Amino acid sequence: MRRKLVAGNWKMNGSLAALVELDAIAGAASRTPTVDVAMAVPATLIAPAVARALGLMVGAQDVHGAPSGPHTGCLSAAMVREAGARFTIVGHSERRADQGETDADVRAKAARGHEQGLSIILCVGETLAQREAGRAEAVVTAQLNGSLPEVFDGAWLSIAYEPVWAIGTGRVPSVGDVAAMHATIRATLATGIGQRASAVRILYGGSVTPNNAADLLMTDNVDGALVGGASLTAGSFMPIIAAAAAISEGRPAK
Ligand code: 13P
Repeated sequence: MRRKLVAGNWKMNGSLAALVELDAIAGAASRTPTVDVAMAVPATLIAPAVARALGLMVGAQDVHGAPSGPHTGCLSAAMVREAGARFTIVGHSERRADQGETDADVRAKAARGHEQGLSIILCVGETLAQREAGRAEAVVTAQLNGSLPEVFDGAWLSIAYEPVWAIGTGRVPSVGDVAAMHATIRATLATGIGQRASAVRILYGGSVTPNNAADLLMTDNVDGALVGGASLTAGSFMPIIAAAAAISEGRPAK
């Protein structure tokens, strides 16, 4: 049985003042022992967030694929670990698009993060053009095959399926399409590590809100959510944690 993971991603948002939202979210997380709650904050906020947000896993949004070196402006896995991060996102579509990150880059980032003891949330997802061309599952499978580390397991790796066209748009795939993609991802993981793939959490991300969280989190092979906009305030993130908890505890989620 996989524990659900509700992870937020503040992207390039937030400030010291905004950490009051994290205080409230951490409070909700510590009252919700059946669900794992995590927040990927901007790197400048990792240390202050760790200092005050007990009960919550604080993480980074990216790390470099090299352990150190001449990469001005970048942060290594060891650096974010030292700041207190316990996990990092790698391969977010915004970085694949804005920074031109390749699958090979993402694989290196995941490996460096794991070497430093970080859990990894590895993102994959197709564009709208790719989905409309009927290539969504082929694209995601290729991304996974290109970016999964050589050796991995569910103790530290989660996959986030984030269709690019669903991020920040209010558009969400049908639960049937989400279930189909998550089953494909599970099968792809199993070709690498067999039965142990059943322990890897597969999160859905892209316009998750308090309104649609329960339906998504009840879907087969959806082991959690990666939440952007709705993670910025406790008011919109706490109901998503609550929906995950209700499902985990066998209570009505809506
Ligand atoms: P939104 O929830 O704002 O669509 O963002 C999703 C996302 O990209 C999380 O990593």
